[in-house]
Amino acid sequence: MIKQQTQNNKEILRAKNISKVYSEGKISTQVLQDLDVSINEGERVAIVGTSGSGKSTLLHLLGGLDTPTKGEVWLKGELLNKMDETQRGEMRNKHLGFIYQFHHLLAEFSAIENVAMPLLMRPAVKIDDAKNQAVELLKKVGLGHRLEHRPGELSGGERQRVAIARALVTKPALVLADEPTGNLDHENAQSVFELLSELQTSFGMGLLMVTHDRNLAKMADRQLVLKSGQWEA
Ligand SMILES: Nc1ncnc2c1ncn2[C@@H]1O[C@H](COP(=O)(O)OP(=O)(O)OP(=O)(O)O)[C@@H](O)[C@H]1O
Ligand SMILES: [Mg+2]
Repeated sequence: MIKQQTQNNKEILRAKNISKVYSEGKISTQVLQDLDVSINEGERVAIVGTSGSGKSTLLHLLGGLDTPTKGEVWLKGELLNKMDETQRGEMRNKHLGFIYQFHHLLAEFSAIENVAMPLLMRPAVKIDDAKNQAVELLKKVGLGHRLEHRPGELSGGERQRVAIARALVTKPALVLADEPTGNLDHENAQSVFELLSELQTSFGMGLLMVTHDRNLAKMADRQLVLKSGQWEA
């Protein structure tokens, strides 16, 4: 495995000079161009940018869900590019949590089962232990009374709370969130964001959040603005 000396030992994630070009037949679309990013432990960073500027694409590359056309992504000092899909999956499960815009919960499973899922993907984890941890976290996000509900039986805000619990159940070093409040009305967006911030502080994890909402972005330690695949100066 390729290791590097990170610039400081608090760095969780580093992207160096990454570009992404989507190629389909004769059409190629350059979405990201020569980007650098670095996130430290416990840091809260917001990425803003207009629709189509490449925010989701960037988050997927940083989380090892996709690979850059050019450049390097380092997670906890290890180079994701050189890993195969299985190794990348293990790195994701060990160090990262994901919250998606459209929650991506499994419709046929209860809230407990959805939240326990990332733990159950690990070898040697007992089902009862995973479920107990899921219950604990669901209580923390205020859903102790909705444990057995399936996603279709929950409100939009409640589903996002389940998605937050699922992202945090493995106690990741960094949570990547793609417009976690994008589908909610202002009040719900605010309360989901506050919940996420509270948990982030108490768990001491880093948070990299894509948002359209400049007011939410202002509450981050740092704001990065993406414009046509590059950082705006
Ligand atoms: N698989 C793909 N093949 C070709 N082009 C793609 C693909 N995925 C995304 N794109 C293009 O890349 C650009 C950036 O997409 P991306 O989803 O990263 O934008 P975004 O900033 O997240 O936008 P939004 O705010 O609407 O979610 C878009 O113009 C999109 O059409
Ligand atoms: Mg997007």
